[in-house]
Amino acid sequence: MSRQLHLGAFLMGIGHHASAWRLPDAQPGNLTSPAYFKALAQTAERGKFDYLFFADRLALSDRFGDNLDASVRYLTSSRLDPVALLGLLAGATSHIGLAATASTTFNHPFTLARTFATLDHLSEGRIGWNIVTSTNDGEALNHSAEPILEHELRYRRAREFVELAIKLWDSWEDDPFIHDKVTGEFAHPKRVHYLNHAGEFFNVRGPLNVPRSPQGHPVLIQAGSSDTGQDFAASVADVIFTAQPDLQKAKAFYETVNQRLLAQGRAAGSLKIMPGVMPFVGKSKDEAQARFAELEDNVHPLAGLALLSDSMNHDLSVYLLDEPLPEVKEIRGNQSRFKLVQELSQREGLTLRQLGKRFGGSRSHRVLAGTASEVADDLEQWFTERACDGFNIMPPYLPQSLDDFVNGVVPELQRRGLFRREYSGRTLREHLGLARPANAPRA
Ligand SMILES: Cc1cc2nc3c(=O)[nH]c(=O)nc-3n(C[C@H](O)[C@H](O)[C@H](O)COP(=O)(O)O)c2cc1C
Repeated sequence: MSRQLHLGAFLMGIGHHASAWRLPDAQPGNLTSPAYFKALAQTAERGKFDYLFFADRLALSDRFGDNLDASVRYLTSSRLDPVALLGLLAGATSHIGLAATASTTFNHPFTLARTFATLDHLSEGRIGWNIVTSTNDGEALNHSAEPILEHELRYRRAREFVELAIKLWDSWEDDPFIHDKVTGEFAHPKRVHYLNHAGEFFNVRGPLNVPRSPQGHPVLIQAGSSDTGQDFAASVADVIFTAQPDLQKAKAFYETVNQRLLAQGRAAGSLKIMPGVMPFVGKSKDEAQARFAELEDNVHPLAGLALLSDSMNHDLSVYLLDEPLPEVKEIRGNQSRFKLVQELSQREGLTLRQLGKRFGGSRSHRVLAGTASEVADDLEQWFTERACDGFNIMPPYLPQSLDDFVNGVVPELQRRGLFRREYSGRTLREHLGLARPANAPRA
């Protein structure tokens, strides 16, 4: 079979677009509704997506002004704990992979490794973990640690965290059980191991109290785009998430990450590169573009700037709204995304107010507006020119734009032989064409 592309349904609130909830038929009350999330997951599964994914932050966004005034007034979405949400969705679906963000800066490896191993069992091997280091002081303030750790230190902690999680998942061998009702022997003591990990950040004896899970290790996703972030991803991740608005830059990123992967001694193809795309699918290009324009017009500039302040971990309320984004020397938040924002702002000569509106739209991810076949043309070009291995589809307004993609673009990709018509495997690793990791060899 020809090379197949992968699709993730990156779901956010009432849609990724900051003004999605203001559309006439949007229902912001759905943000806490189990029926709503189940229906979204079932739609993505009907579209044969590899996985669905929920991002996370561990604080309400209040970096803009460092108070609750603009940040609550112009809030665009609240968040349920996405890891808990996966538990609900595991029971509401049968094949689709289920991925969520969890922070290595504000969790403990034992607790998180145990939660993900549990979910991997409960979903029969469909779990993915988006490993993030977290970026802002609001998150630090909620976890007895302010300000947030500096960028390189966060990544150092993340490396040890993930190494330890892997050791915990491997602390049970694959075949540990005896289950002999006559002798009373339950499991082989030689097949379950202490770790005695003593590191820079953590001391953990182990073993885990959950047996090795169906995938061995849940699928590991990473989204760092800085040099350190890319190196980290190339050393441990199965999937890399990225924001790539430009084809040539995306191709360069694809090549660099793959070189880093090979330099780590890992096999080509063992790390899937997934840029985000926000699709507006219409019966005509004009209709799709009109819908996009309607949403863009409706973004409150302070809603966009609140999101941007949060992402940069930098209070933008101190600058003038009708002046350009000033030179900001050092930001402690999302560095790669900030670079994209700076480039956009300079290229198009935007004021801060205009920049807020633009960021609130796709948050620097690529926007496609067209018919199903035009959107499919674009995805096909990026995929065949090796700018990526697939896409995180970011529906701008929910549930409708996920339906539009599943009903229009997915069949188009299937007709072109680029995307599965049915699931051929059961686990997320199988959907992504990734091997199940062997249990780490023991000294
Ligand atoms: C698709 C995508 C999803 C992300 N999801 C989250 C998230 O849920 N929580 C979070 O704190 N950061 C998230 N990030 C940000 C990354 O974890 C990381 O901080 C960012 O890409 C900057 O990396 P860098 O510091 O290596 O430049 C996401 C990034 C991308 C591209």
